[in-house]
Parts: sequence; C-alpha cells; structure tokens
Amino acid sequence: MSASLVMGEVLSRKKQGEDYYSLTVVAPAVAESVAPGQFVNVRPVGRTAHILRRPFSVYRVHKQGGWASTFEIIFDIRGPGTEELAALDVHDKLDVMGPLGNGFRLPKKHSRCLLVGGGIGAAPLFFLAARLREAGHRIDVVLGARTSELLLNAMDARRLASICRITTEDGSAGDTGVVTDVLGPTIERCGSEVVYTCGPHAMLEAVAGVCGAAKLPVQVAVEELMACGFGVCMSCVIPLRVRRKKGGSGSGGVLYARSCTEGPVFDGSQVIWSDHIAAPDTIDLASELVPPPAAPPRAQHVPAGAGAEHSPPGN
Ligand SMILES: Cc1cc2nc3c(=O)[nH]c(=O)nc-3n(C[C@H](O)[C@H](O)[C@H](O)COP(=O)(O)OP(=O)(O)OC[C@H]3O[C@@H](n4cnc5c(N)ncnc54)[C@H](O)[C@@H]3O)c2cc1C
Ligand code: FES
Repeated sequence: MSASLVMGEVLSRKKQGEDYYSLTVVAPAVAESVAPGQFVNVRPVGRTAHILRRPFSVYRVHKQGGWASTFEIIFDIRGPGTEELAALDVHDKLDVMGPLGNGFRLPKKHSRCLLVGGGIGAAPLFFLAARLREAGHRIDVVLGARTSELLLNAMDARRLASICRITTEDGSAGDTGVVTDVLGPTIERCGSEVVYTCGPHAMLEAVAGVCGAAKLPVQVAVEELMACGFGVCMSCVIPLRVRRKKGGSGSGGVLYARSCTEGPVFDGSQVIWSDHIAAPDTIDLASELVPPPAAPPRAQHVPAGAGAEHSPPGN
C-alpha cells in the first residue's frame, strides 16, 4: 500500500506518566493500511516552530471501518516539534504522511516471538504484539528503561506476553540493569525463534550481538534522523553488510540503505553498527542495490505549506 498525505484530526491527547504524551489521530487512509514497524511523518497544521514533519512509529491502531479509524503515536518531548505535538488539543488538525517505511516481517508459521524494547523506543512493539497475537504467535517481552517512570506501558506488556521481563538501570522496577543482561536467559527459557527489537542505537547493537551469538534471526527498527521521510534526501542512510551475489568476486561489501524506505526495519545481522568500516571490503553498492527514490506520497488533502520538505534537518 503506498503512502498518503492526509489531514488527520486529533481525537484524544493523553499524558502518560511523567514524560510521555500520546495522540490518537483520526486518519482512516493511514490507520487502515499501516503495518507494524511502519511510521508516520506528522506536523501540526498552522503552527510555525518547525517546517519539516517529524517521524513517529505507529504505537496502536483502532480500526473502526469507514471514516473513524485511528492510529496512535506516543512520544517524549525532545525539541520544538514534539513540544508542539504535546500541546495539541482535541479536534486540532495534523498533517500526516504515511504509512512510511517497510515494517516488520511476521513469521509465516507459528513461532515463539521475543519482543525487546527500550524506553520510548518500544512504541512500535505494541502494535506488532497485537498483530502477532491476532495471527496466533506466542509473544514474550523484555522491556527496559533507565527508571520505572520511563518504562513504556509495562502493564500492557505483561498482559500481552506469556513471559515478561522488566529491567531498569536504577532498579526501580524489575531487575536492575539493561535488557541485554536478561536477554540470553530469556531466549533460552522462552525457546524464542525470532527477536524483534526497537530502542536506542546502543541497545539495538547489543541485542543484535546477543542474537547473533545465539544464531537467532533479529529484526531491528532503527530511528535515524530523517528529513524528507520518503527516500529523496539521503539523510537517513545506514550501512548494511551485503554478501556478493553468487559467482561475484570478493567477499562482499557495504550497502548504504535509506532507513525511511528500505527500513526502518532491518535484519540485525546485516547492520554495521560501528562507524568504523574496514576499508578494503567497503564497496558502495547503493547504485546497484538501492531502488530509485520513491515517488512522493500521493496527496489526498494537501495542507498549506506542504511543499517545504527540503529544508535542512532541524528546521
Ligand atoms: C522511524 C522513526 C520512528 C520514531 N518513532 C518515535 C516514537 O514512536 N516516539 C518518539 O518519541 N520518538 C520517535 N522518533 C524520534 C522522533 O522523530 C524525534 O524525537 C522527533 O523528530 C524530535 O523532533 P523535535 O522537533 O521535538 O526535536 P529536534 O529539535 O528535531 O531534536 C531534538 C533532539 O532530539 C534528537 N533527535 C531528533 N530525532 C531523533 C531520532 N530520530 N533519534 C534520536 N534522536 C533524535 C536531535 O538530534 C536533537 O538532539 C522516531 C524517529 C524515527 C526516524
Ligand atoms: S529521510 Fe530523506 S531519504 Fe530518508
């Protein structure tokens, strides 16, 4: 399903704990078609603090059929964009581009799925958990944060999971430490067959490392800085390790993939997490393997100012 540019309407805005805000947005074209792991690029209509839309994972979807289907995003305040979003009111309009990105791949056969989330980064895992449950898969969860206040919806995680492990760095809830401290034993105890993860970069790298050692497939949802969100500005590329095609020479190379179109979900074993890439094997295969830039999403309702997409990040 291709992305749309639509005018959404805020149905509700909630403060969740001390730090998080959630917005439920009426946008049927997006809510009916979005898949777990995909994201939306949003901007309040008629405000001036930022020109670029800001990307957010879809946290939950409520399909009502027809005009009323909604999606929900959840976020913390980082800067002007999130500050404006947190100040929105019921009935305020939101310029929404989406669904964007590739989303998580769901297992084809019945599987034991382990979802590993850190802080606000765990947002897309709740939508994923709902879809995995609908499809009859077993779900286990490891949820971590610096403190108990920063745990994202631990109550829902416990409800959705067969086994739920909580970690906090200050020990205010669950085990003291980080998610990777309990990951190995949890994989073993749950007999996990696939791992899905989203959170801070360092956590994703560590989770991918544990899964690599356990020879488990791991899908990671990255949150790179983005500008356009639909494949034209190249501000969101991340390096992936690729194997040479059969019959090709050399041992492989590096593909620079756009996390807004080829991602944000990647095979964790392919991501080159460290900034340092060994020179001799580094081949830019982007022109060979990256498809041409995606067409800009088709506009259903084009809001005022929608043309200002090419300003530098941070605007
Ligand atoms: C695919 C994707 C999904 C996302 N999902 C969520 C989500 O569900 N909930 C949520 O709270 N946030 C999410 N983010 C991050 C969110 O987009 C940023 O927090 C937001 O754009 C910040 O906008 P701002 O104007 O408030 O802050 P800015 O002024 O733009 O930035 C403030 C600070 O936050 C940093 N920052 C901005 N974007 C990111 C980012 N992507 N990753 C790390 N640091 C960043 C900046 O470097 C700067 O230091 C997601 C990002 C991506 C790419
Ligand atoms: S954000 Fe522009 S190419 Fe990805």
